[in-house]
Amino acid sequence: MKNLVYIETYGCQMNVNDSEVVLSILKKHGWEHCCELEDATLILANTCSIRDNAEQRIWGRIEQFYLQKKKRPGVLVGILGCMAERLKENLLDSGKVDIVAGPDSYRRLPELIAAASDGHPGIDTVLSREETYADITPVRLDESGVSAFISIMRGCNKVCSYCVVPYTRGVERSREPGTIVREACRLFESGVKEVTLLGQNVDSYLWKSEGESVNFAALLERVAQVSPLLRVRFSTSYPSDISDELLEVMARYDNICKHIHLPVQSGSDRMLEKMRRKYDRSWYLERVKAIREKVPGCGLTTDVIAGFCSETEEDHRDTLSLMEEVGYDSAFMFQYSERPGTLAARNYPDDVPPEVKTRRLNEIIDLQMRKSRERYAAQIGSEQTVLIEGPAKKGEGKVCGRSSNYMMCVFASDKKAGTYVRVRVVDATPATLICEEIQ
Ligand code: 5AD
Ligand code: SF4
Repeated sequence: MKNLVYIETYGCQMNVNDSEVVLSILKKHGWEHCCELEDATLILANTCSIRDNAEQRIWGRIEQFYLQKKKRPGVLVGILGCMAERLKENLLDSGKVDIVAGPDSYRRLPELIAAASDGHPGIDTVLSREETYADITPVRLDESGVSAFISIMRGCNKVCSYCVVPYTRGVERSREPGTIVREACRLFESGVKEVTLLGQNVDSYLWKSEGESVNFAALLERVAQVSPLLRVRFSTSYPSDISDELLEVMARYDNICKHIHLPVQSGSDRMLEKMRRKYDRSWYLERVKAIREKVPGCGLTTDVIAGFCSETEEDHRDTLSLMEEVGYDSAFMFQYSERPGTLAARNYPDDVPPEVKTRRLNEIIDLQMRKSRERYAAQIGSEQTVLIEGPAKKGEGKVCGRSSNYMMCVFASDKKAGTYVRVRVVDATPATLICEEIQ
């Protein structure tokens, strides 16, 4: 039987990149990647624990994987990532899973697989202070090959009270800058035109060794210097750490895309303190002002949580008014979901009734919809440089790609994916700019 591995990825972009690291490790041990569950001898799910509904979905998938095991004895099922880290033995106890590996244990996968093949379910959820998989060249999953993600750090030291990430991904570690720049060079040479530097909090990237110290602004500059034809993006920024130095580097390089994802979570100082975010509303608004001044036209997106512990109508209105004031291009908006073991779960009751959370979330979504419509419509008449990603989902013969400020553009063109084109914006929806190619 051929060694074929199928891998499903849930959650954040970091997980997509981790799946690519996993494939790279497995390929070295004789595994080949397959796209159909039915063909696989090893089924892996790289999981997310950020909200309860993410985990519930994965439990549903585990049932489907189990059907494959029953149909085809010998098939192994492995759960990787954050849910593996959080639930550990509970996953093996379900009797439906053979391998459990946390985010820092992927190098041990071949060993765990071998043990599982011999009938010994394998588990490793030890978190590391050093592991960055710096020397592993990820096997790219995205076939279009136009853009790629590069993990520049792992883990998180912030300990926001609602968040499970510090427990599932461990402490913050920055990856050696030389390996990041080399990976960007290699990607560019293989035809990739856009890289996104990834970390839970890229602004606290810091590499120190023998007199050398590289912060995120310096790293970003080094990656931008790989080639003016390589676009560089990054995510996620943290409001108390995003520096003027970084904004100045962004402004200096045309190929650093003008977009910042700056999660605010709440507009209420009382909530921000309870969430243990390390900024308040006025600090956040000052940073937004600095972005607008130093990086004109910069796209700004955010994350918002509705209904955190003890949130009142007044707190909620503070969130709405902040969103009104900032005017984000788009946002990821969530209801608070209590995660076992977090500071909030241990210290504060999850006391906003579900129907109130839903209503507040809907108000947040409605407001954002209106803002997105305004922000996108404001681009009508402007010219943008777009990197073509491929055919548009809708519209015969049309292609799509993003502008520097991260807005999705759709237009008719006979140019190939990976080409930069100048377009004029002629119309807009709340999530797309309708454009015409400038000949
Ligand atoms: N409940 C709801 N949303 C959460 N997020 C993180 N933890 C929770 C939680 N317990 C959201 C935050 C974060 C994004 C990745 O997910 O907005 O920025
Ligand atoms: Fe989900 Fe957070 Fe883990 Fe990413 S780091 S997979 S978003 S819990």
